[in-house]
Amino acid sequence: MRMKEKIQALLDEAETIKFSTVEAVEQYRIRLLGKKGELNDLFEAFKQLEPAMKKEMGVALNRLKTAAQTAVEQAKEAFENQGGVAKETPDMTRPVETGLGHRHPLSLMREEIIDIFGKIGFVVWDGPEIEDDWHLFSALNFPPEHPARDMQDTFFVEKRGGADDVALRTHTSSVQIRMMESQRPPIRAIFPGRVYRNEAISARAHCFFHQVEGLYIDKNVSFADLRETLLHFAKEMFGADTKIRLRPSYFPFTEPSAEMDIACTICGGKGCHLCKHTGWVEILGCGMVDPAVLENCGIDSKIYSGYAFGMGVERMANLKYRVNDLRLFSENDKRFLMQF
Ligand code: DAH
Repeated sequence: MRMKEKIQALLDEAETIKFSTVEAVEQYRIRLLGKKGELNDLFEAFKQLEPAMKKEMGVALNRLKTAAQTAVEQAKEAFENQGGVAKETPDMTRPVETGLGHRHPLSLMREEIIDIFGKIGFVVWDGPEIEDDWHLFSALNFPPEHPARDMQDTFFVEKRGGADDVALRTHTSSVQIRMMESQRPPIRAIFPGRVYRNEAISARAHCFFHQVEGLYIDKNVSFADLRETLLHFAKEMFGADTKIRLRPSYFPFTEPSAEMDIACTICGGKGCHLCKHTGWVEILGCGMVDPAVLENCGIDSKIYSGYAFGMGVERMANLKYRVNDLRLFSENDKRFLMQF
């Protein structure tokens, strides 16, 4: 009986033992599993047992041997992983050091734009970033080979020919087409999203950036409606005193087309480096939707008219937060992001 109790005590030890140093593991190994160790003594004693006892004791001895070997192997492995130093258990109550995260400035800007237009009845509509030529150019009245296609340096995904070419969208105007193809007027929506252009990356240009497009289609929509909507937007975004001006411009999908400037947010119109001493900074393109575009989407241009506009989110952030290097927006530098 003494032998049985001895094995049980050693088994309990093997199953619960903790080592604080590598040396302690080695001492235990020698004491239990060494040539003159406890296990060998026990196996010697085992040989003297009556055959009736041998079965029970043999099983117990083998269990002990396995348990002792496992304890040694596991402890050695743990110490190897820690470079030989006993590791403290982590303190789960320690306060976190990182603090709360920050919204990205472009997300803040996008939300602000959506909020301003949302309050005057514009819903948000979405479209794909990989787009076909039809939605990107053809339906927007860019004729084949028209030089206006070169206004935007396109990343093509697949050249299938004509309106079937597939590309990363170069502007969010493609979502106008998607919405007009699937919805009937009145349509009053904005389309925020990422766009891609094949440009060398610098402080002033990037291969991707963000736009918010706007579209309003109904009966009797006029250029005056467009102007008032954009003036309202500029005042909400940059302050009640903000002045705007519209300059004639050209886009294939609008007629007439215009570009909108606001009085420079830095110098207030007196002239500085931001406005290149003109007193004005350009913030968006706009115009009355060309009747051909409406017809391409199955909307009767004799009954309906509408306006569209498109702005760059980075440009707005630049004017509002004075971020003058576009690369900062995609570098994920915490020192930059923590300021918002
Ligand atoms: N798609 C134009 C661009 O990326 C921006 C734009 C101009 C959008 C005029 C419009 C618009 O909807 O009417 O440069």
